[in-house]
Amino acid sequence: MKASAISHPNIALIKYWGRQDDGGRGLNLPLNDSVSMTKEGISGGSRLQSHTTVEFSGSIEKDMMVLEGREICGRELERVRLVIDPLRKIAGVESHFSIRSVNDFPTAAGLASSAAGFSALALASSSALGLDLTREELSTWARLGSGSAVRSLHGGFVYWHKGSSHETSFAEKVCEGGSFQLNAVIVIVNEGRKGISSDIGHEHAYTSPFNEIRTELSQKEALLVRSAILDNDLRTVGSIAERNSKYMHAVMMTSDIPLFYWQGETLKVIKSVHAMRERGIEVYFTIDAGPNVHCLCRPEDAPEVQKELECQDHVLRTIVARPAKDPHTIDEHLF
Ligand code: DP6
Repeated sequence: MKASAISHPNIALIKYWGRQDDGGRGLNLPLNDSVSMTKEGISGGSRLQSHTTVEFSGSIEKDMMVLEGREICGRELERVRLVIDPLRKIAGVESHFSIRSVNDFPTAAGLASSAAGFSALALASSSALGLDLTREELSTWARLGSGSAVRSLHGGFVYWHKGSSHETSFAEKVCEGGSFQLNAVIVIVNEGRKGISSDIGHEHAYTSPFNEIRTELSQKEALLVRSAILDNDLRTVGSIAERNSKYMHAVMMTSDIPLFYWQGETLKVIKSVHAMRERGIEVYFTIDAGPNVHCLCRPEDAPEVQKELECQDHVLRTIVARPAKDPHTIDEHLF
């Protein structure tokens, strides 16, 4: 009972920030629907992928996981069990698990490493347990580990229905990467781990005076962005994504634990994006829970956007990403 999977992170075009009150059940039900692109690195030395191997066996003495060479424990291991326990139950398996997982990109730096990791975990675990679940079902189990992981169970462009129960909060594919031509030039200004986790941020979102309006606008914008993706309309997708990201950061900055993920360098990249747009390059920015910036543009403009940004002193490096294929199992095991 051993399987491995490869999965990619995703960048949200419409953000998930803040959770529904589920009476402490830990379902990670978001306040609004959200939309994302699952991303695969094509230049910059990173494919942007998580590779995870899961084994269940009677000879394993305790549940254990090694992430990036470090054995995890406490809350981190608990999050892994939140995904695996229900799968073990469905499969009727009581054996312990052993897991190894590696990312080829910085962990916990706002590049959605946990989304890729939990998606790979859900896929490898269900395969090791011999379960035959749809991607939509699998996405609900991945969600219990990390909300945004729900969207990494599909490649291409993805829509997460907020739902109101475990079963109704799932991700579905909007379209494959080929039908909406989009690249993300990821501008890395800091590769360190973020100070305050998204987990804590979600819990405090409701304390911001802007939370309600962000939620309301995001729900409408999720539908607009979905149809603009299907219309191959970059201007609408890009301008709404840029605006939506600012709404989320406004909520973060005005919560009772103020979260300032932006750094001075982040603002410099934002200004460069605006300057390029004034020169006629169609490029937009979006930022998740970290200081790094995703610049959204057409594939033919990506080399110019990358060239402009990578030579700036405050930029550590850039990675160009395109829509990824679906996450998949592979025969190459990590142990
Ligand atoms: C800011 O709870 O999914 O990326 O702490 O990495 O598990 P982790 O994050 P998660 O929230 C991150 C939300 C976001 C926006 C988004 O992806 O929609």
